[in-house]
Amino acid sequence: MTDITKLMRPHLVKVATYHGVDPSEELARAAGIRPEDVIRLNANENPYGAPTSVTDVLKDLVVHLYPDPEQRRLRAKLAEYTGQPVERVMAGAGGDEIIDLLLRLFTEPGQKLIDCEPTFGMYSFCARIADAPVVMVPRRDDWSIDIDGVIDAIDDDTRLIFLASPNNPTGNLLSEAEARALLDTGLILTVDETYYEFCGKTLCHLLDEYENLVILRSFSKWAGIAGLRIGYCIASETLIQHLLDIKQPYNINAAAEAAAIAALDNRDEVLERADTLVEQRKRLEKTLNDLDGVDYFPSEGNFLLCRFNGRTARDVYEGLAQRGIFVRLFEKARLEDSLRISAGTPEQTDRLITAISEVVGG
Ligand SMILES: Cc1ncc(COP(=O)(O)O)c(C=O)c1O
Repeated sequence: MTDITKLMRPHLVKVATYHGVDPSEELARAAGIRPEDVIRLNANENPYGAPTSVTDVLKDLVVHLYPDPEQRRLRAKLAEYTGQPVERVMAGAGGDEIIDLLLRLFTEPGQKLIDCEPTFGMYSFCARIADAPVVMVPRRDDWSIDIDGVIDAIDDDTRLIFLASPNNPTGNLLSEAEARALLDTGLILTVDETYYEFCGKTLCHLLDEYENLVILRSFSKWAGIAGLRIGYCIASETLIQHLLDIKQPYNINAAAEAAAIAALDNRDEVLERADTLVEQRKRLEKTLNDLDGVDYFPSEGNFLLCRFNGRTARDVYEGLAQRGIFVRLFEKARLEDSLRISAGTPEQTDRLITAISEVVGG
């Protein structure tokens, strides 16, 4: 028999895969509880979902025709929302697809990406798939970027830097001065603003000055349509044109396109839900302030990175899981005692607060 792995690209044969979140049924099965009792606070999803003004458009969807490969209506709407020319925006099947496209566009095998852990794992995953070595410049203890360290790590083969702002999972922002210092290196800097709508802070205005800046956004979190897979990026006209040239023609499915347009048309209602999540994050912060043995890092997103002193994160994770609450466990360097907890509805937050008090206090 042929060993088909010998025909594969060698770097992909044993690639470390990316483990996304399991469906609620799986979480319930592992914890020995009913699926309807699962509270998912492990993926920074929006537990409210999208309002009916957004989901109603899915009912009359035309599904027998291909969607617009040039994303005309959607890009026009995104241009209006972001205040940018239409030539500077394009949508992807989630921010994830755009990260992948950027790696395809800017790296040949062996050309490098700079990553600053702890952060979102998709940058290094897409780099592994593209055979682009990842140069890791760890964040400082306060989770800020070691700007001098990044600049020192650059060599002739470096192509891209990815930084999330707010960063997942630490919740802190990249400052304008830091972004400028990195943009001045001339490399492609992607500022990932997936959580923009929870803080309102953006570096979009730098696009007028820098052709090498990419702003990445998503509809998964604020708009509550993670399951439809849609995100977008804003960048110079040249960069966007090249991304459009290499994307799959129908990368945005008809449902995602229609829902994203409806979310932008009904943005006040959608944003109200995002605001509620921020309120719930603040409520959680207040409770944790009064609880011994837990602290957290200030966050600008819809999540909180909590540190449990004197306990392993796995112990706390399991205690919460037994109570039906699933949060994000990392079990990796510098996060052994930390869990990322997504903001939930007020009712979910009530249950979370009771559960944390029992697990940490008990
Ligand atoms: C920082 C960051 N960027 C991008 C994404 C991907 O979002 P999308 O669902 O649009 O692919 C996530 C998802 O968790 C994220 O946390």
